[in-house]
Amino acid sequence: MLPAVTWVHRGLSYPAAGLWRRMNSSRAEGKGILANRVAVVTGSTYGIGLAIARRLAQDGAHVVVSSRKQQNVDRAVAALQGEGLSVTGTVCHVGKAEDRERLVATALEHCGGMDFLVCNAAVNPLVLNSEGGSTLGASEQVWDKILDVNLKSPALLLSQMLPHIEKRKGAVILVSSIAAYMPILGLGVYNVSKTALLGLTRTLAMELAPKGIRVNCLVPGLIKTSFSQVLHKDEAFCNQLKKSQQLQRIGQPEDCAGIVSFLCSPDANYITGENIVVAGFSPRL
Ligand SMILES: NC(=O)c1ccc[n+]([C@@H]2O[C@H](COP(=O)([O-])OP(=O)(O)OC[C@H]3O[C@@H](n4cnc5c(N)ncnc54)[C@H](OP(=O)(O)O)[C@@H]3O)[C@@H](O)[C@H]2O)c1
Repeated sequence: MLPAVTWVHRGLSYPAAGLWRRMNSSRAEGKGILANRVAVVTGSTYGIGLAIARRLAQDGAHVVVSSRKQQNVDRAVAALQGEGLSVTGTVCHVGKAEDRERLVATALEHCGGMDFLVCNAAVNPLVLNSEGGSTLGASEQVWDKILDVNLKSPALLLSQMLPHIEKRKGAVILVSSIAAYMPILGLGVYNVSKTALLGLTRTLAMELAPKGIRVNCLVPGLIKTSFSQVLHKDEAFCNQLKKSQQLQRIGQPEDCAGIVSFLCSPDANYITGENIVVAGFSPRL
């Protein structure tokens, strides 16, 4: 039995049954490069995930927002509703199998399918700092938690969504970190999990290309969110960072949103297996 989901479109609340057909025809009248497409975004009730969800909806998609806490889901859905965007929301802790199942079921029940999966949710390593700051000092429990949420959950969620995304020749965006290229001291296992996501992107891109599914990766630098507050509130760290990057500012969640919309859009139809750095500089050649 699925818990009730919040379903809102252009300021109106609807009962779930038969909704998708109405939503679909209503959006078809609208504009936007992602019109008539459905995007599922994990960890999308604040921070980078919310900015991505908002942008995908502004570009015409119907977006399923999700995160661990019902009140955050409700608040995000209400905020996006207030902006006239087409969204639904449900609770999904990406590390929990039953929550991942509910997310897939919600998208199917209310939208009839899905085109895009954006895997944004991650464990905040700073919460685990006392145990997990150094890689070799991390307990098995910390390794399991970080790898489960950051690395395994995108693959497990995608495996459940695969037949549906394949039907619509959709796209997948994983969210890594600049720490994948330039490890940050004290974030040991997190760094490793984010580097592994680059490998997951390349592997999935190869495996899913024959099915017509593209897989790319967003690689944010330091972005001003609650996740990174220990870093962006550290003046010395920020000054040092700004000196070493060309654009000399800390990023905002919105800086990460347009590129995800582009990667979902037909304009990116010939792009797969790519890692796109959004950091005010590039760590690569
Ligand atoms: N901010 C940065 O500087 C930065 C830099 C590089 C990469 N990143 C990456 O960008 C992504 C988003 O980071 P952010 O800075 O936007 O984080 P944030 O501001 O802390 O937002 C995290 C979002 O994910 C949800 N969430 C947390 N744990 C979850 C879980 N286990 N399952 C499902 N949802 C969960 C949160 O809502 P609930 O609390 O309701 O669950 C919230 O909606 C992460 O993958 C992070 O590694 C961030």
